[in-house]
Formats: sequence, C-alpha cells, structure tokens
Amino acid sequence: MDLFRKKDINVLLSRESPLKRTLHTWDLTFLGVGAIIGTGIFVLTGKGALTTGPSLALSFLIAAICCGFAGLCYAEFASMAPVAGSAYTYSYISFGEIITFIIGWDLILEYALGSATVAAGWSGYFVNFVGNLGWHIPKVLTAAAGTTPGVTTYFNLPAFCIVLLITTIIAMGINQTKHVNDVMVTIKIAVILLFIVSTVWFIKTKNWHPFAPYGWYSFNHGTASGIIPGASIVFFSFIGFDSVSSSAEETVNPSKTLPRGILLSLLIATVLYIAMTLTMTGVVKYTVFAKYLDAPILAVLAKTGQGWLSMIVSLGAILGMTTVILVQLYGQSRITYSMSRDGLFPKFFGEVSLKHQTPYKGTWFFGIVTAITAGLVNLNILAELVNIGTLTAFILVSAGILWMRKKYPDIHRGFMAPWVPVSPIISIAFCLLLVVGLNWETWIRFLVWFAIGMAIYFGYARKHSKMNEE
Ligand code: ALA
Repeated sequence: MDLFRKKDINVLLSRESPLKRTLHTWDLTFLGVGAIIGTGIFVLTGKGALTTGPSLALSFLIAAICCGFAGLCYAEFASMAPVAGSAYTYSYISFGEIITFIIGWDLILEYALGSATVAAGWSGYFVNFVGNLGWHIPKVLTAAAGTTPGVTTYFNLPAFCIVLLITTIIAMGINQTKHVNDVMVTIKIAVILLFIVSTVWFIKTKNWHPFAPYGWYSFNHGTASGIIPGASIVFFSFIGFDSVSSSAEETVNPSKTLPRGILLSLLIATVLYIAMTLTMTGVVKYTVFAKYLDAPILAVLAKTGQGWLSMIVSLGAILGMTTVILVQLYGQSRITYSMSRDGLFPKFFGEVSLKHQTPYKGTWFFGIVTAITAGLVNLNILAELVNIGTLTAFILVSAGILWMRKKYPDIHRGFMAPWVPVSPIISIAFCLLLVVGLNWETWIRFLVWFAIGMAIYFGYARKHSKMNEE
C-alpha cells in the first residue's frame, strides 16, 4: 500500500462545495485578527517578559518573522488550492496521505487544544472582572485541579461554559459567526489602542536597561531564558492566522482575498504586539510581572494608577480571547469536516446541516470535548504543546511550497510567495529554531500525541480513505 498516495490538484479544484461563499478580504482579516490577538498578548506576555526581559519585543519580532515567512507559504497554497482544510488539504496534494493525516492531527492539536488553553486564560480575566462587580464564583470551580499552588481547585467552569456557548454560535452558521466576530474584534483593537495611548506617557527608559539581561539563549536557574526561548513562548500569540485559510470554501474570490487576509491580519497583530510590549516593559520593570502572571496588563495599570482603565482593558481581554476561541473552534470544525470527507475520519464529522449549511455534528462533538478539556486543562503545558504542533505544521507547509513549485510549476497561482526557494527555507529554519527553544518535556508529549495519531491512521483512516476508491 502506498503511504504517500496524493490527490490531483485539478480534481480538488473542480469539486463543488456545499458551503456558502460569503467572506471578503476584510472579513478574513477580521477572522485572522480575531484568531491571532488573545491569550498570547494578554496572558503569556508576563511569562515572556520574565524569560526575556525588555527585549521581549525582539522575541515577538522573531516569532513574527517566522510566521510572516510561513504566512507567505500559506498564502500561496491558499491561492492555489482554495478549498477547505488549510495545511491539511495542501499536503494531500504535495506530500501524500500519511503526512496529510499527520498534519490534520497536528491541526486538531492546534485548534482544539489551543482553544481549550485560551478558554482557560479567558477564565482568569473573567473571574477577576465579575469579582470586581461583586459576583464571586466558588474558588474550586475557577481553575483546573492543581493549577494554582496552595489553592484547591477542581474544575474550570467559566472555561467550560464559554466553549459551549461559542460552539452554539458556530453550529448556527457562518453569518452569525462573522458578525459576532467583527464586533468583538473592533472592540479588542480599540481597547489595545486605548491602553497604549494612555500608558505610553509613563515609559521610563531606565526600565529598558539592561535590554536583554539573558542574551539570546541562556539558562537561568535551570530554565531556558533569553530572546529565543521567549520567542518560542510568545509564538503562541501569532497562532491563528493560518486558520483564515480554512475558510477557503466560504470565501468570495479566494485566490486574491485569502493571501491578503492572511498577511494583513499578521501585520496588524505584529504592530500592535511590538507597541504593546515596548510600552509594558517601559512602564514596569520586567521582574514585576512575576506577581501578575495571570494578567500582566494589570501590572502596568497598577503602576500608572489608572484603575478606571483596568475594567475596560479586562473587558477587551475577555472579548479578545473570546474571538480566538471562536475562530479556533471554527477552524477545528472545518478540518475535521475535510478529514471526514476524505474518509480519514468517520462520516459523522462531515455531515452538513441543510438548514445552517455547517458541519454541525463535528462542531458539537469537538465543542464538547474541548469544553471538558478546558475545564481540566493546565494552560502552560498545553500552550507549549500547541506551539510545537503548529510549528510542525508550518514546517510541512513551507516544504510543501518547495515541492509544488517543482512538481506543478505551471498551475495557476493567484499569489506567489516571493524569493522561493529562499523564503520557505527561512521559514523552516525559524520554525526549527523555535522548536529548539521549547523544553524537552514538550517534545515528549508531542511524540505521544503523534503515536496516538498513527494508531488512528493505521487502525481506521487507512482502511476508510476515499483514495481506496480512486
Ligand atoms: N494567538 C492566539 C492567542 O494568543 C492563539 O490567544
């Protein structure tokens, strides 16, 4: 049996999709920004600043460069094969079935476990926000068991509920999803700009010295520190732009709008992140964030004395993370829809509702699994696991561009990544650098995930693949 059997790109392109085409460039950019800006900037900046120092802005820049080059490859693939499924579908054309399954399995890690992680971060701000309004959720129901030393917790109820709520919105259909997302993204960007404009005046340049206390890569009390390990952590902040390409079958004129949506959303996020981290580390000495790991932004507002702003920013953070969960769960349902359509997952996941034209059964299945995971998840462990899964997918997509240029030089591309083969090679090199910055426990966990995926592939997917009929 050929483990590397491939799909013909022309057959893929000629297939009719039952999904509705409603999305334009700005809708995709909003979907992208909705997926990108979230827990990374609102929660992980604290850990990032402690790992890197004020040079955290450089860590963001490195992660952005990595994603920018991978984004070019995603954009080219999306413009060439504008069908649902993102990296998963691309690899069916370039690498063949087994690698395709691995990527699909990786994307489940990225989207399902990623949204569970973000829901846990969301819960931290939510509990804080409603606490300020006088509504106290029982402590035992505010976090997964064993997440906070010295505090007894059993289950993260707010995280569980938000995932179920968003699953309902997605199952209702793309229009509802788009409108809810647009409003929340607008508020999120406004709040970030308000934060920067209000606090930038409090920057003391002495807080930026020394700028890179741990250099590029060093060990501080046995923990990898410095600009590169910092970049490996905050890479999480950029995850999500790739989910834009999952909506190819619901996009108007996808070969033009998809690349624009991907690159534009990445650019907007990068500018906001760098402005925000420079402001944060300029107002507060980076070591202060140790006390504010759940909500580092509040450290800045405590220092400037702008208490009035903290409620507004908390609300922005809550909405910001809500849209991330929304787009990730949306991407998740579309990936499993594609995998099911190809026979690699049971039919159940691909059944489209006649009324809403969405793959509602798969959406609900993964919504419930994600909600339970969010209730039990440990945010930090999962964030790194999600990073390694996503970096692996980026590496395969970038390598896929090299292959496609060789194998299908003449096929129509609405967008061509510049400087090929240099740009995909740079993308791969940066991804590997960020994998190296992660700790070894993450590599082991990823291998376990990978082994489970292989068991499913050889136990189910291989036998049921639609490729058997072709
Ligand atoms: N980039 C997304 C976030 O930071 C996953 O929440």
